[in-house]
Amino acid sequence: MTCDLPTEVQKEPVRIDVKVGSRISPIWIGDGVSERAAALLDAQRVGSRRFVVSNPVVWRFHGGAITRALGRTEPILVPDGERYKTLQSVSRIYEALIRAGADRGSAIVALGGGVIGDTAGFAAATFLRGIGLAHVPTTLLAQVDSAIGGKVGVNHPLGKNLIGAFYQPAAVLIDPLLLRTLPRREFRSGLYEVVKYGMIASRDLFDRVARDTKAIFDRDPAVLLPAIIESCRIKAEIVSKDERESGLRRTLNYGHSVGHALETVTRYRRFRHGEAIAFGMLAAADLAVARGALAERERQALARLITQLGPLPPIGDLSIREMMEVMCRSAK
Ligand code: NAD
Ligand code: GLY
Repeated sequence: MTCDLPTEVQKEPVRIDVKVGSRISPIWIGDGVSERAAALLDAQRVGSRRFVVSNPVVWRFHGGAITRALGRTEPILVPDGERYKTLQSVSRIYEALIRAGADRGSAIVALGGGVIGDTAGFAAATFLRGIGLAHVPTTLLAQVDSAIGGKVGVNHPLGKNLIGAFYQPAAVLIDPLLLRTLPRREFRSGLYEVVKYGMIASRDLFDRVARDTKAIFDRDPAVLLPAIIESCRIKAEIVSKDERESGLRRTLNYGHSVGHALETVTRYRRFRHGEAIAFGMLAAADLAVARGALAERERQALARLITQLGPLPPIGDLSIREMMEVMCRSAK
């Protein structure tokens, strides 16, 4: 893993590498980096034909710019939302690829949030036994988390992320300018994953989110960009050491047992992913305090920060029994 941490607003993109075996998966981070997509993907030899997989919402905002950046692209749009992170959506992508005559030299460019990244990534991992994949994440959550590390997959009616693979992208282009169109609630959802990195790996990052909350919500590059870079650095380092989650990578699942169950029992309609993780982190912190693994003052700091970031959906009506059942069969 390599990383140059900026001390001021970064003019040149920062490169962070995920190294899995002999394979290097570079992440480029910087304002405007998506405009350089053609050159960056060419350098990584990502596909002689590139199919952009996105959804109508993201495409409306950013389809024009990515088309200008990539030159000729062939968009494949799937419906928007976690409810569509399914094998049916993957099948739609396969069908479009087959009809267009895609071959092993083709590649998918996933343009969207975590739902698009996971779904399109799974299609890339499985179409013709694997074609090229690049991510251009457009939510904060996808920029700091889901586009990195190679977990791709879809939900099954019985549980979240139950169908999937590890499939490292050939490149990830993280352009914080794409977040300008992201609604505040979605932005906040991604911020909870930054808080997660603060909890598992960086006191300093946690404190900066607490101190600079307003500037981060204002998407001030002087504070947002370093927070994105540090989150990516933490994730890249962990994945480089433990791609298949035999140990260390499990720390990235902090808050996810309860979080995924909340999403599943509410049929993906009530929570944004990060909101569910926020509740999950609080539950995990309660357990950790009870087991003597976390100081009470740390639990309180987490609860204060989560409250400070904004309101969360209600949970009082949910069945604990159903939550426990679902928790036993969710994959992270
Ligand atoms: P999402 O992909 O559903 O995106 C949230 C919403 O924002 C959608 O309506 C989307 O259309 C819209 N949107 C996206 N970019 C936009 C933009 N720039 N401007 C305006 N609107 C925009 O949700 P998410 O929070 O990005 O991702 C959640 C998913 O990520 C979950 O399925 C979760 O399981 C997965 N995830 C995967 C990993 C992994 O390692 N693969 C890690 C964490 C989360
Ligand atoms: N979000 C958990 C992981 O990538 O491992």
